[in-house]
Amino acid sequence: TGGPTFDQYRRRLRTLRISVTDRCNLRCQYCMPEEEYTWLAREDLLSFEEISRLTDVFISLGVEKVRLTGGEPLLRRDVSELVRQLASKQGIRDLAMTTNGVRLAEHAESLREAGLHRVTVSLDTLRPERFRALARRDSLSAVLEGIRSLARVGFTGTKIDTVVIRGVNDDELTDLIEFGRQVPAEVRFIEYMDVGGATGWSWEKTVSRDEILATLTRYYGSVEPVMDDDESATADRFALPDGTTFGIISSTTQPFCGSCDRARLTADGMWYLCLYALIGIDLRTPLRQDATDDELRDVIASAWRARRDRGAEARLAARNRRPLLSVAHLRRDPH
Ligand code: GTP
Ligand code: 5AD
Ligand code: SF4
Repeated sequence: TGGPTFDQYRRRLRTLRISVTDRCNLRCQYCMPEEEYTWLAREDLLSFEEISRLTDVFISLGVEKVRLTGGEPLLRRDVSELVRQLASKQGIRDLAMTTNGVRLAEHAESLREAGLHRVTVSLDTLRPERFRALARRDSLSAVLEGIRSLARVGFTGTKIDTVVIRGVNDDELTDLIEFGRQVPAEVRFIEYMDVGGATGWSWEKTVSRDEILATLTRYYGSVEPVMDDDESATADRFALPDGTTFGIISSTTQPFCGSCDRARLTADGMWYLCLYALIGIDLRTPLRQDATDDELRDVIASAWRARRDRGAEARLAARNRRPLLSVAHLRRDPH
């Protein structure tokens, strides 16, 4: 056991994103429809023991970064207990969580105490009425309080993820950067992607990385690229004249499939090799049929070794062709 695992394009299996629940306490328009979903049943969710065991197998295949996501991960009961179990594992050098922040203020301290390394909070607007329209819940003040609580309990490396949508929040880029500076947190602007449970995406609503840079250069005078050693990072980073940094995740106009080291595990134990993959690999069934660690390792390693997914790049290439088929939007959220 041990050692890295590579796919067909020499991309290493390094990052595991684990969804711990499909539920959410917001209804962001780009992610979920307002109508009630049929949520997963409790017995269909992987238990903490099952997640922990699978994580050990992934670590043995080279995973060293783990991110807990949802839905909204803080809705999973006792999620800090899962954090504690994962934080005790030798192989994980980065253990993070992506949350919408609504319940962060009440959980920040126990997450920190359990050994979580850092937190990324989704925040698309600083204006209450826009937040209500976008997320369909009146929770902005709770989110801002949640973000501020992170520094108080000792977290560093906090990030704020902002999906930029034309005509919705594209006039708030500098306000968000100023807010991030105060927190402190690094703001990352995400190009709107055609994934998720809602179907409002269009090219027209996508604000490109180039446009974002042009806007910020106009306002701040100059924007300089920052060199990063992590070549599989989703974000390109930039610095303003006063040293404040921010990121841009250009999944739509400049996809980064070529360096993608990520795979995602859903709350019910399906493993997807790409954000855009239509078919996942069922890990829960072998897990519950008493597969040995070696058997689980074989399933995972052989799937990764065969991996050829380049979902975002394929999407971009298809833009210039006349669609042969119109495929329904994916209902999976990119958490
Ligand atoms: P760090 O840089 O380690 O903090 O994490 P990250 O950027 O990988 O994770 P995060 O959950 O914060 O993801 C930020 C955004 O990157 C998501 O909202 C997506 O827009 C995008 N993203 C994450 N994973 C993928 C992926 O597999 N494919 C594509 N195309 N985009 C992704
Ligand atoms: N395009 C881009 N980002 C999205 N997210 C959810 N749906 C989309 C989409 N269609 C973001 C969330 C969160 C991150 C984890 O994924 O807003 O910041
Ligand atoms: Fe919830 Fe995140 Fe989807 Fe918004 S984007 S509805 S916070 S899961």
